[in-house]
Amino acid sequence: MKIRFMYTICFTAVILFLLVSCKSNNEESTMVEKKSFGKLSNGDEVFIYTLTNKTGLKAEITNYGATVVSLFVPDKNGKLEDIVLGYDDIEGYEKGESYFGAIVGRYGNRIARGKFVLDGKEYQLSINNGENHLHGGKIGFSKRVWEVLGVESKMGGSSMTLKYVSKDGEEGYPGNVELTVNYQLTADNELFINYTATSDKNTILNPTHHSYFNLTGDPNKTVLDHLLMIDADKFTPVDKGLITTGEMADVANTPFDFRTSEAIGKGINDVNEQLKYGLGYDHNWVLNKHQEQIFKFATAYEPISGRFMEVFTDQPGVQFYSGNFLDGKVKGKHGVMYQQRTGFCLEAQKYPDSPNKPKWPSPILNADKTLPYRQTTIYKFSVK
Ligand code: GLA
Repeated sequence: MKIRFMYTICFTAVILFLLVSCKSNNEESTMVEKKSFGKLSNGDEVFIYTLTNKTGLKAEITNYGATVVSLFVPDKNGKLEDIVLGYDDIEGYEKGESYFGAIVGRYGNRIARGKFVLDGKEYQLSINNGENHLHGGKIGFSKRVWEVLGVESKMGGSSMTLKYVSKDGEEGYPGNVELTVNYQLTADNELFINYTATSDKNTILNPTHHSYFNLTGDPNKTVLDHLLMIDADKFTPVDKGLITTGEMADVANTPFDFRTSEAIGKGINDVNEQLKYGLGYDHNWVLNKHQEQIFKFATAYEPISGRFMEVFTDQPGVQFYSGNFLDGKVKGKHGVMYQQRTGFCLEAQKYPDSPNKPKWPSPILNADKTLPYRQTTIYKFSVK
């Protein structure tokens, strides 16, 4: 009798456990949703995935360009608003030239005249920015359809993994490169971006993420009142084609000094040759802690909404771009015509034109598949 009673208790406990775990699995599985994002001009369908976490953050990501289309983050009163620029539909992304929210590559940023030498051979990449190569060329990773390897919900967050195989010779680059990007929205309100890549020939690789943030949640406002900190004593000056000159200049006593939080707008209109070339900030900062594995290198704070963003990476540099080329002619989400400086990017990367600057951290990816390329960049959100 006693034994039967024990059996009944155990049996009930197992059933209860199964029911509870089933329920939480169901709850977890509702954290990623997939729907159509329409058709490209060639008729191919692309999709948009909604990732959520347990505190209500929401990221919409399309497999076209592995692009973050929107990112809903609460303000200090808990109001969720979209804090990134983008387009309403796939046509906008297909035609657009602003790289909103995309993964850019094979080489993010500029390579002078699209030329570099690797293993004694000179390569000529496509030219798409004046006389230079920018963000992977005419059809970079941001304009490719990525394969979705999977979506997952766990520990109060959700993630998706995308893959793009870039062919040997694409845009002039050597080697077949297989790049996977894993986006994770964690329970701690972080957007993790993990990159892994291998190649079958020695090549160069420098992918980065190109979200334009506007922490006000209102893209009609500029980002000039955001307080920005970049932990860097030096930046890499450019020529008038925005190609790095090879120098590293001190930020001290210049408008490039963001070592303590400063309003983006404070020095942006100063008379300064570098600012003139970029029409504002469009430069690479040499991150102080770049010997460390993953470190915090920037923060941005928007005082009215209270939104605070911290950015971490394992990369040596960051391109801080203050949205200078937005000119009121780009029609963004909800029909808003994006005006100059209504979004800013913090693109973690190798220093621009590094294939032609042998003393700088190398963008070379060897054919050795046991040594894959890896990058982690994290945008973390909170309020103050
Ligand atoms: C990067 C570049 C800028 C500009 C934008 C896209 O951040 O550095 O010069 O081309 O992309 O408009």
